[in-house]
Amino acid sequence: MPDTIMVMSEEKNGVSLETLVSLAKRRGFVFPASEIYGGISGFYDYGPYGVQMARNLKSAWWDAFVRSVPNIYGLDSAIIQSTKLWEASGHVGGFNDPMVECNECHSRHRVDHLVGKEMDNLVDYVPLLNDVECTVCGKKGKFGEVKTFNMMFKTYVGATDDNESVSYLRPETAGGIFADFGQVLETTRAKLPFGIAQIGKAFRNEISPREFLFRVREFEQMELEYFVSPESAEKEFDQWKQISWDWLKEVGIDESNLQWHQHTQTERAHYAADSWDINYEYPFGSKELWGIANRTDFDLKAHSKGSGGDITYFDTEKNEHIVPYVIEPSIGVSRLMLAALHSAYTEEEVNGETRVVLKLKPGIAPVDVAILPLSKKPELSKIAHEIYVTLVGETDLTVEYDETQSIGKRYRRQDEIGTPKCITVDFDTLEDKAVTIRDRDTMEQKRVKINELIAGLE
Ligand code: GAP
Repeated sequence: MPDTIMVMSEEKNGVSLETLVSLAKRRGFVFPASEIYGGISGFYDYGPYGVQMARNLKSAWWDAFVRSVPNIYGLDSAIIQSTKLWEASGHVGGFNDPMVECNECHSRHRVDHLVGKEMDNLVDYVPLLNDVECTVCGKKGKFGEVKTFNMMFKTYVGATDDNESVSYLRPETAGGIFADFGQVLETTRAKLPFGIAQIGKAFRNEISPREFLFRVREFEQMELEYFVSPESAEKEFDQWKQISWDWLKEVGIDESNLQWHQHTQTERAHYAADSWDINYEYPFGSKELWGIANRTDFDLKAHSKGSGGDITYFDTEKNEHIVPYVIEPSIGVSRLMLAALHSAYTEEEVNGETRVVLKLKPGIAPVDVAILPLSKKPELSKIAHEIYVTLVGETDLTVEYDETQSIGKRYRRQDEIGTPKCITVDFDTLEDKAVTIRDRDTMEQKRVKINELIAGLE
């Protein structure tokens, strides 16, 4: 008898953060880092399925914005750069968040998070704090002086740990892109407009990391610096806003949970003339997923000044050196992953039981195909292993082999990690040389000859 499916939670925002955290841990997507030592706030490890899903998201981004675009070039710059680079970019002096300490329990907080809004001046927070409770000890209005806190992670390079050898883990990947602008230009002979793209780790010593993968201290960014003539910056900016929005849909982000948010002057980073965020409606509210900024010529000029070099572009039409503007779409992998998990999470009632299924886009789901022999009998395992070897060798699919537990439990497990197709090898396979392909979303099963399997998976 076919399964009857009833979707229980049409309302995607009904999915709580706890539900996602629990699924991510239970199924091996994301674990708290150093958990055996009590954990370390703001750091996470990606388990077997999480690392594959993150790789799929990064590949999709790289394919869309680098591999298939003739005028966008890839880069992988060092995480630690010259300290002078971060001084010139303004991060050493100005990459600050407003902080306050609770006088009772000495916990430290982002003031803007505590009071729920950003103020122009630190003193403006003071009256607002009188009515606010400490989120750790619950005491009201017992806060100390509001200060700024620099989020750069400090380290030392070399065998001495004095001021001379202080360096920083990069707070954004963009710094390396600006510093390599001249070398990329020279080696590619690029003409404006052109982009330099990078995927890599960034580090921020967030005062209060929270909301799971949303605000962490170590994360990956996918950043594009798109260099344009100053006159075309506004038009390019609008185009990149649209391209970014459309790409999110491509990777399975639920569009009904997306909103635009333009930064106010207080919110804007020190380098930006205009910034828009694509916000996602997370379980804890509508927050930034992807930031798109018009950084003008701020960075190239700052690095020209800081390095004493001449970081310019020779405009052959104008017959002069110009400093290009830069449009920057920048998205964090962990925030994207959280949005993708949230968009995909579905609970359905099937024959009176709850089925949890991650309706991740094929290609983004960590496993493309699971091969599930009905029993561990050697005659079935042998065929199932042969299918595994064929699929791994002849396709780009990520394939999993699983022969433990009942077939029902294995289907549910694959549903929870979002595997689009399951292949079952059963005793009839010995006779008809065919297997069953089960579709994750419809749960429909079809019989396909083994020698037509690859075509049958499409
Ligand atoms: N280069 C520009 C830049 O770094 P940003 O808005 O500070 O701008 C870009 O960061 C993106 O990086 C954000 O839209 C977000 O997706 C991600 N991101 C920033 N801080 C993060 C954090 N603490 N944890 C996770 N992701 C973060």
